[in-house]
Amino acid sequence: MKRLGMISVTTLALSASGVLADELSVVCSAEQDWCDLMVSAFEAEHPDTDVLMVRKSTGETLAQVRAEAGNPKIDVWWGGTGDPHLIAAEEGLTQASGVDTSELLGWAQNMADISNGKAIGIYAGALGIAYNADILSEKSIEPPQCWADLEDPRFEGEIQVANPNSSGTAYTELATFVQLFGEDEAMVKLAAVGKNVNSYTKSGSAPSKAAARGETGVSIGFMHDMVKLAAQGFPLKIVAPCEGTGYEVGAVSVIEGARNPEAAKAWVAFALRADVQSRAPEVGSFQVPSNSNAKVAPESPDLASIKLIDYDFATYGSSDTRGRLLARWDAEVGDPNPQK
Ligand code: F6P
Repeated sequence: MKRLGMISVTTLALSASGVLADELSVVCSAEQDWCDLMVSAFEAEHPDTDVLMVRKSTGETLAQVRAEAGNPKIDVWWGGTGDPHLIAAEEGLTQASGVDTSELLGWAQNMADISNGKAIGIYAGALGIAYNADILSEKSIEPPQCWADLEDPRFEGEIQVANPNSSGTAYTELATFVQLFGEDEAMVKLAAVGKNVNSYTKSGSAPSKAAARGETGVSIGFMHDMVKLAAQGFPLKIVAPCEGTGYEVGAVSVIEGARNPEAAKAWVAFALRADVQSRAPEVGSFQVPSNSNAKVAPESPDLASIKLIDYDFATYGSSDTRGRLLARWDAEVGDPNPQK
């Protein structure tokens, strides 16, 4: 009895001193350098916790979380577009973290409301088009201004975009077309754009990197990723499409049955802090932060000045809708060379 009592006192003393768990397994669906920064900043505050992090696109992560249901290897999923996080919540694959969200902006709280606290908004960013100004001028191609322009044969073989099955960015594009044009017309338009697509990538930011390097003339993706590349000096021009555009609310979720739930919840609390979110621009991540006290980088696209649709997260972040839209995309648009 006495020994047991001593053990429990020691254990208590350890948790009071901030030891959470030996390990924390994080899947990160933001850019690699931001993932790395978050890991090192978290480990600096919790030196006894070893964070094991892998970067995976949002749709790929949802597939992994589904495959591991009941025996998850991941504790926490940080970053990536909100729709697949909402779907994981709906399917009972994630759990509420109970972390204080009172400093968060309305769109981030909205995500928590839709998911009963299981997915919490960490950043926002608008979808857009980028083009390599050197390439288009060398080829005398008039730059695009609207989504409809991307259907024009002048862009044959010039457009790169991700595959919406693996990429949250490309799913946001698919859902945006459906909300702008209606489901049937969206499929027709995406198939027409598809005639000009040279490759569907796995990750959402890859097409703009390819456009920056001159490997493709035009990309579709999130504007903050394009801003990062333009700030590095690449000849990338960013277009807010004339019809209006959709946006993402990036999210964080704790996995149901996580092996290290306390450390996972500590990660969520950490990720929502203003000082932590304010560090994203150090690695060129220019999403709009969800904490109302976080610094917004001057480079961050000003969402108020972009014609944004009223993106319906409850609908497009539901399992049924995503399943139906992806099945239609596969059948009516399709990727002739899916990447393994
Ligand atoms: O910067 C990375 C980013 O654009 C995030 O804003 C977004 O949540 C994520 O990539 C989506 O990545 P993917 O399309 O590969 O799922």
